[in-house]
Amino acid sequence: MSKALDGVRILDFTHVQSGPTCTQLLAWFGADVIKVERAGEGDATRGQLRDIPGVDSLYFTMLNHNKRSITLDTKNPKGKEVLETLIKDCDVLVENFAPGALDRMGFTWERIQELNPKMIVASVKGFGPGKYEDCKVYENVAQCAGGAASTTGFDDGPPMVTGAQIGDSGTGLHLALGIVSALFQRHTSGRGQKVLAPMQDAVLNLCRVKLRDQQRLERTGTMHEYPQYPDSKFGEAVPRAGNASGGGQPGSILKCKGWETDPNAYIYFITQGAVWPAVCKVIGEEGWITDEAYATPAARLLHLKPIFARIEQWTMSKTKFEAMDILNQHDIPCGPILSMKEIAEDESLRQSGTIVEIDHPARGKYLTVGNPIKMSDSPTEVTRSPLLGEHTEEVLAQLGYGKDYIAALREEKVI
Ligand code: COA
Repeated sequence: MSKALDGVRILDFTHVQSGPTCTQLLAWFGADVIKVERAGEGDATRGQLRDIPGVDSLYFTMLNHNKRSITLDTKNPKGKEVLETLIKDCDVLVENFAPGALDRMGFTWERIQELNPKMIVASVKGFGPGKYEDCKVYENVAQCAGGAASTTGFDDGPPMVTGAQIGDSGTGLHLALGIVSALFQRHTSGRGQKVLAPMQDAVLNLCRVKLRDQQRLERTGTMHEYPQYPDSKFGEAVPRAGNASGGGQPGSILKCKGWETDPNAYIYFITQGAVWPAVCKVIGEEGWITDEAYATPAARLLHLKPIFARIEQWTMSKTKFEAMDILNQHDIPCGPILSMKEIAEDESLRQSGTIVEIDHPARGKYLTVGNPIKMSDSPTEVTRSPLLGEHTEEVLAQLGYGKDYIAALREEKVI
């Protein structure tokens, strides 16, 4: 079956996580992704957080499926010449080097346009134009600068970063959308364009509701769905809201049976207005359906702590899965706190292709996260990540280089 991005060729000049997430998605949609890596070393993540000595790490393998790898010294004049040929041949160049690295290599936007006016040049940088534009940035820096850390955690504790890689993978997703949009526009404009996804901006986009809350706070001095209401004071900036819901329906993480020994025996429970009578019946507090202290959402906001304490008495008598089954019968929105172990074993995620087992020639079988985006006419088959330089000769031959020249490049360590 054909794929959505069949015929699109990507010069993948990315490393670490943010850029590789983006190009992996494009590969899953059918693009031919050629990952250009430094001769000898490759993407630094190949060697980071290794679990098997001498074998590409899971960090690398899980971010670089369905790609081809070539090694090329792009600072060597002959390597530059090969890169120029690739630029002429590809539709998109994706990079996430430190600011200015591509220019220093001699591949400015102007130069790339001279070589291929249709090329789309897509970049991840830590910050957009401004006082921090020259800074190098990793995941947690972006989480902090984008507003996630100041709004995550508990009010009486320090700012917290989240385990979800919203700075790296989140930015990669944003960049992928920019790239496919630029490819679409190219049909009418006939030209390429620059696509920039700064990590700070991408994190802020994901923290949109907190900027909403900043303005609500400035206007009204309070926010009733926050745990600070009604007992504590609000300051000038959006506070950390613990596990309170970010929307209009109050929610909380509650203990379930076994919480004393299992760190993940918890459930997220949402007291959606529409199912309040059902919540009361399930926990055995029918009186709360009509009691005016609890009957309306506005009244309940004054009593969220005792309400959730009472619901927790009920959830603590059930495992998180028993609670899920019962609550779902009543359409009460809730979710078990799943550990990574439980997710890895989840049958539905495996059947949908979101958890996939892959065989790798050096490491053997491992689990990965497949394409979370499902398309009816563009199915994803996840294939293993390439070994360093596995496709150098194949790609160079496709570009028109002869065997002897390729051998000479290898001799000179250009590839
Ligand atoms: N051949 C020769 N040189 C190469 C090469 C190749 N194939 N590929 C990369 N290089 C060079 C670059 O040109 C650069 O050289 P320069 O410093 O002389 O200009 C050098 O390798 C290192 O690149 P750099 O991007 O600075 O790597 P780093 O390890 O020092 O920094 C980051 C890593 C992630 C901090 C930095 O790349 C960055 O801030 N990127 C943008 C934000 C980002 O994506 N961060 C998230 C990463 S998950």
